[in-house]
Formats: sequence, C-alpha cells, structure tokens
Amino acid sequence: METETLLKIRSEFPSLENKIILSSCSQSAISLDVLDAMEEYKNSLLEDGMSWETWMVKVNNAKEKFSRIINCNPDEIAILSSVSDSISSILHSLDLNNQEVCVTEMDFPCIGHAVLAQQKKQNFKVTFIPAENNVIPIDHYEKYIHENTGLTCVSHVSYYNGFKQNIKEIAKIAHRNDSLLFVDAYQSAGGVNIDVKEMDIDILVAGMQKYLLGVPGISFMYIKKEIAEKLSPTTIGWFGQKEPFAFDLKNLDYANSAQRFNTGTPPVINGYIADAALSFIERIGMETIERHLSKLSYHTIENALQMGFKLASPRDINQKGASTAIYVENANKVEGLLKEAGYVVSARKDVIRIAPHIYNTEDDILNCLKQLEKLI
Ligand SMILES: Cc1ncc(COP(=O)(O)O)c(C=O)c1O
Repeated sequence: METETLLKIRSEFPSLENKIILSSCSQSAISLDVLDAMEEYKNSLLEDGMSWETWMVKVNNAKEKFSRIINCNPDEIAILSSVSDSISSILHSLDLNNQEVCVTEMDFPCIGHAVLAQQKKQNFKVTFIPAENNVIPIDHYEKYIHENTGLTCVSHVSYYNGFKQNIKEIAKIAHRNDSLLFVDAYQSAGGVNIDVKEMDIDILVAGMQKYLLGVPGISFMYIKKEIAEKLSPTTIGWFGQKEPFAFDLKNLDYANSAQRFNTGTPPVINGYIADAALSFIERIGMETIERHLSKLSYHTIENALQMGFKLASPRDINQKGASTAIYVENANKVEGLLKEAGYVVSARKDVIRIAPHIYNTEDDILNCLKQLEKLI
C-alpha cells in the first residue's frame, strides 16, 4: 500500500496517535467513523427519544454489509450477541441423538463448552480432533469425521496462534460424510477473505470486536438457506417471527431462512457501530486488507525469528491469518509491561499475539518486537 494511503488510514484511528495497537485478535483500534456512530445513537436517544425505524435500518444495513463481505444473501444472516450464543442456539436446534459431534482442539473454548452442555440434553458422542504441533493436519479430518458425524465445528483461524485452516477441503470431507460444518470465523472475518458459497460452509459465525473493527455485543450468524428452513430453533424471540410487530402471542410462525434464529430486540448501538465499521472495511476492500496483513505477517515472522523468538504460529503465511504468536514466559505480565511502554498486544496462555490491521506499518511491528526483546 502506498505510504500516503496508509497515513490517511492511520489518521482515521485516533488512538494510534499515542500508542501502537497490535491487538486485532482481541480488540482492534476504533475509527473516527465508529466513534461518530456511537454519538449518532446517543443523539437519536436525546433528540428523537425513540426511533425504531432508524434503529432497524442501521441494524439491517450492518447485516447487509456483512452478507456482502462473506458473499451470501442478507436473509441468510441472523443477528445474535456473541459467538457463544450462536453455537448454543445452533446446538439447541439440531437433533444429534445417537450421532457424533466433532470439535477441534484448536477451537475457542466456548465451542467445547456449548457442545458439552448440550450433551447433557442429547445423547451424542463428542470427539475432539487433535492438533499436532499447533496445527490440525487435513488428514485428521479424514480420520475423525465419519458417517455418524452430525456436526463438525472448526475455527477458520485459531485464536491462539493464527493457524488458518483450509475450509473448502474440510467442507468436502464433512459433506462427504453428511455432517454439517460450523465455522467460527471470529479470528478471520475482516482480516481474511471469506466466501461462504465458494467454501461451501453450512453455518458461519463472527463477532465485530476483532478484525471487523467494531466492539463486542453483536455477532452475525450465516446459515445456508436450505438448512435454516429445515431447523426449528428453540432459543428464539419475537424478532425470529415472520411478523414480529403482529404481537401474536399464541402462534409460533418462524421467519424465513436464517431470520428465525434472531432472538429479541437486536443490540441497536452495536448495529450503528457495525454499520460504520463494515462501511470502512468495504471502502478499503477485503483484498487490500488481506494483502497488507499477509505482508505484515511475513515481516513479523521473519523479524521474530531473526531476533531468536520461538513461534507458536505456522511459518508459512499461507497457513496463517494476521496474528503471530510468540512464546513468552509470563505472557500476561509481559502484555502489561508492553502496554505501559505504549504497545497494545494480547496474551493467551504461554504466548503474546501480535495482531496488526490495515492501519499498522512494518515499523510498528519491528518496534514492538524490539521492546519485547528488551523486556525479556
Ligand atoms: C475464535 C473465537 N471464537 C469465539 C470467541 C468468543 O466469542 P464471544 O465472546 O462472542 O462468545 C473468541 C474470542 O476471543 C474467538 O477468538
């Protein structure tokens, strides 16, 4: 990307004036547009008092933008508040009795928790597909998914080390065995290109807080139309009805497509914020973002290795998203020390994750690595 374009982008993120933010795997920097969106919602409350029409337009605009980013129809998206809510809602809607559910060892813990909780209600076997050297070889899917597997859950990009999976290949294996494929894309959406049709994903979930440049409190759940319409969710609400504003207490009339998975009043302020953040992503374009992040990923790996750091991430950038995980003793403490020195990164277990976005430069990363070297 040209320096002038990068400087212009940086000027849209005020917190970068006095900090280097490399924490997109946890919370990205917030843009002026997002701050304006917060203000706009505040003003709608102060000036209009109540403004349902405007609020719903904002939430729907956000949904439409997300659907364009992952290449599906807006009707195929339900709005919930977190990835945890979304996986729980899906599990409640499926009959998994006498089947098997596969979860990978690299999934975010909320996936395992939701599956194990559902196992208390339904009689199914849970298989954790093992990782090997911090990645999951594709042949593990061949080995562990079989014809009795009803649901396979995978992360597109791992929260721990940024390992990126070949979803298209996993989908082929899952579908050959008649298993549904649930993809947690919280660590990829906004950083890595996603095309749910081309990848043949059945269900995909992502929140806004990480590479989508928003805040927590909203998640988008894609469900392939023909699958959604066969399901009867039991975690529901009036916004999952065909006519929510008919206020019909005595009839359950599921909305079409994924809309039936909507629950109560959507998180309106998050709708404003998501709309603004997704407009930014669309304005820059996923291709530009992915290209920039791949370059930064390569730069991080090269420099970290030269400086003698040990990586928990794959070294091949084709096998990873934007985040690079470096083994560090007392990672949580080091995260705090880096923050005091003006570098915002995120620790998990035994690693520090360096997770840049479109507003970061190679110098941001090099300076952060030098500071890390000084500290340890
Ligand atoms: C890959 C992944 N999935 C799920 C979550 C948790 O999402 P939520 O808090 O929306 O349930 C995280 C949070 O860091 C994550 O990185």
